[in-house]
Amino acid sequence: MGNVRGHYERLAADFDGAWSFSPQFLSWMTDQILDRLAPHGRTVELAIDIGCGPGLYARGLAQRAHRVVCLDQLPEMLDQLPAEPVYAPVRASVEELVAGRVQLPHNQFDAILVKDLIHHIADKAAAIAALADLLRPNGRLLVVMLPTRVGYPLFDAALRRFEELQPDPADIATMMRAAGLTTELAYDDFGLSFPRERYLGMVADRYLSILSDFDDAELAAGIDEMTRRYPSGAFEFVDRLAFLTGIRP
Ligand SMILES: C[S@@+](CC[C@H](N)C(=O)[O-])C[C@H]1O[C@@H](n2cnc3c(N)ncnc32)[C@H](O)[C@@H]1O
Repeated sequence: MGNVRGHYERLAADFDGAWSFSPQFLSWMTDQILDRLAPHGRTVELAIDIGCGPGLYARGLAQRAHRVVCLDQLPEMLDQLPAEPVYAPVRASVEELVAGRVQLPHNQFDAILVKDLIHHIADKAAAIAALADLLRPNGRLLVVMLPTRVGYPLFDAALRRFEELQPDPADIATMMRAAGLTTELAYDDFGLSFPRERYLGMVADRYLSILSDFDDAELAAGIDEMTRRYPSGAFEFVDRLAFLTGIRP
């Protein structure tokens, strides 16, 4: 994929906007994350959200963790975290972390969240091994990612490009096991409905990073294709996500 940093710099100002249309989705996803990282209503000491963005889910983690380290390579994202002592922002890339060039405020964690990020990392196995090393015994690493195919309404070229690039969650599970984690892969669905103009506006704003691979003319042609294929009504579809939970023995 082209320029990941540029894509998120452009989206940073309204990253919440794309998803906060649906408080139900945020609340569902937060429950999915907490049930896997801190099951049975447990509280944990230290959590870290890798590629946290503006902290949509770091806020959820803060309900159950005493401290949430929030790592992202973009200051524009970290600036949107609530200014509360529970959050410890760290501006760094995953690659710098893997290379040992980042001083985190804590060395070991009970819970690590990696949501919608792993597809951006070139050396996924090295990243997963480095993150597994940050876990305390019984600590949990949760990777949340899209499957190899999505049900999102998009134009054909975007769907094809997605399928070419998206890693297979089963391969990520293999890497987590190789890093010494007892790992489970599960899929869960959430039904989404967007008012028509809103969804087409999100596509025009390139709400998915894959859409940044298309220039303005290609994107306009793609939206044209979508309006012909879906001539009226709201956009309704199922968001299916892979949840990989790894526990350090
Ligand atoms: C799709 S957003 C996900 C944000 C958040 N995890 C969520 O699910 O709402 C990806 C985030 O990862 C960050 N990011 C992308 N590549 C990164 C890298 N190599 N190292 C650190 N952060 C990265 C981006 O700046 C962006 O905030």
